[in-house]
Amino acid sequence: MVTLAISSQKGGVGKTTLSVNLAYSLAKRGWKTLLMDVDPQGSVGLSLSEKARTCPGFYDAAKSGGDVSAMILPTRLPELKVLTAGKAPGFFEVQPEGTNGREAVQKVLDAAEADDFDLVVIDTPAGLSDYAGDSLRCADYVLIPQQAEPLGIRSIPQILQAIQELRRSGCEVKVAGIVLTMVQSDQAESVEVARELRKLIPAQLLLESMVPRDPVFLKASGVGVPLGLLYKKPPASALVFDQMAAELEQKMHLEHSEDDADDYTRLMD
Ligand SMILES: Nc1ncnc2c1ncn2[C@@H]1O[C@H](COP(=O)(O)OP(=O)(O)OP(=O)(O)O)[C@@H](O)[C@H]1O
Ligand SMILES: [Mg+2]
Repeated sequence: MVTLAISSQKGGVGKTTLSVNLAYSLAKRGWKTLLMDVDPQGSVGLSLSEKARTCPGFYDAAKSGGDVSAMILPTRLPELKVLTAGKAPGFFEVQPEGTNGREAVQKVLDAAEADDFDLVVIDTPAGLSDYAGDSLRCADYVLIPQQAEPLGIRSIPQILQAIQELRRSGCEVKVAGIVLTMVQSDQAESVEVARELRKLIPAQLLLESMVPRDPVFLKASGVGVPLGLLYKKPPASALVFDQMAAELEQKMHLEHSEDDADDYTRLMD
């Protein structure tokens, strides 16, 4: 099983939009995928079903334990399942003593592994501390969304440095890539950002697939559901996530086992 955390030190850069739609595209490509919401704002899966708004999720499992597998919700796409954030602690609520974020994330990952998931996509809260940091420490890969605006990209070397420090401290997370979001192909400044970013970081770190700015994402993110489940005929902007899923499969060395494949050679046995 492979775990991919979607993280950024900044808020509002499109983490949730990316997590939800990318998880859907990966699941569509046959990977048994768990989309896990670790953001206390908890918007992932909100409108998947009536149950989704009230059922326990990640924070309930973190606080009081419980059967994680029983908290996992199905979607209309059989390969995609969701663990909502559940009831997150209030802003002024003190974490109960002994709460260990890393253990809580790991517990979900262990349950996902036991349930035979191929992939877990974690939508993390903004920043690299607390549960976001705990998710990074437990993940195999991190994907970093970056809004395509000239000033924003200056912080990219900082987050890469932070991940380097994390790795020096013994954590094994690898960078799957940086993905530009809210790209406006009709705006020279927005397009120029990719070129500027390549000067700041090794070129192979920047994914070729970019998320366009499209108002259709506003509606989808409000309900925490992928475009592919929201529309019978998904809009063109949804296609970029299929392309990105293919790109990431290679970066994360995701390979279907021979047992899964339609192995026609067996017809000769
Ligand atoms: N490609 C896009 N085009 C247009 N709007 C977008 C796009 N991606 C995200 N948005 C909008 O921008 C806002 C922030 O997006 P999103 O919630 O995905 O970001 P986030 O990084 O998860 O935010 P937070 O840090 O608060 O968790 C949302 O209102 C969303 O609908
Ligand atoms: Mg979010």
